[in-house]
Amino acid sequence: MDSNNIIDGKELAKIIREEIRLEALEIKSERGRAPKLIAVIVGENPASQSYVRGKVRACDAAGFESETIKLEASTTEEELIQVVDGLNKDESVDGFIVQLPLPDHINPDHVIMAIAPEKDVDGFHPVNFGKMAQGLPSFLPATPFGIITMLDRYNVETSGKKCVVVGRSNIVGTPISILMSRKAKVGNSTVTLTHSRTKDLKEEVKQADIIVAAIGIPNFVTADMVKEGAVIIDVGINRVEDSSKKNGYRLVGDVDFEGVQSKAGLITPVPGGVGPMTVCSLLYNTLLSAKGVIYPKK
Ligand code: GUN
Repeated sequence: MDSNNIIDGKELAKIIREEIRLEALEIKSERGRAPKLIAVIVGENPASQSYVRGKVRACDAAGFESETIKLEASTTEEELIQVVDGLNKDESVDGFIVQLPLPDHINPDHVIMAIAPEKDVDGFHPVNFGKMAQGLPSFLPATPFGIITMLDRYNVETSGKKCVVVGRSNIVGTPISILMSRKAKVGNSTVTLTHSRTKDLKEEVKQADIIVAAIGIPNFVTADMVKEGAVIIDVGINRVEDSSKKNGYRLVGDVDFEGVQSKAGLITPVPGGVGPMTVCSLLYNTLLSAKGVIYPKK
């Protein structure tokens, strides 16, 4: 891995994907078929389409079976829940995800609640979330799982450290704050979860040994908010206009990478940091599902 201070998520994901591929091969020889992941996407959100393509590509690279179910933006909540029900019952499917965000007329909570916890490889269902919060075996949400895997493989000491999370979403900020504080190999941190109502957020972030930026605002974390030597995990994937690019945009994180890198102990880039690790965790959860590790097969 790199000798500079960059956490190379792309390279690490490649290494872990190869470990997963070998396990998937074993499963295939034991039960006659590879692990299978289905992605459901509703509408034409270009970023979502690109994420789902990445997930399918990763499945191919790991020797998984995969399929994308593409539904029109006009699909009703009831219709989507019928598709979810079908996947819950389909024994050939080890896990599936419904890509978020959904069109405004569909309540994502209703859809997530309809997913069988045994197939919820995104770890979004309240049963998995609740088990995670209690330290019970569960599918961990893919992005937080990717982050703790990175910290683990880069031997970042988390015990007794001060971790400041910026952003309190259900899919990243809130679960990573729980995982970083739990009693576990990666954990035992003292966690502060900051958000739009936090007083003097800059001062809070400045105290951090580990910063997790997951607020969805380009370049939100700047050098004046960062303590020398802090480990910085940038979860943001923001599209900003850039006429010099063929597609008219470039991706930037929630951290001002250029300004902050020289102060950081370690830092994740965007792209090539957290994103590939999220995909990898999704594959890993699907593998666990195929093996019946979290929820034993009936
Ligand atoms: N949208 C942004 N991140 C994710 C994710 O990890 N899973 C799903 N299903 N949708 C997302």
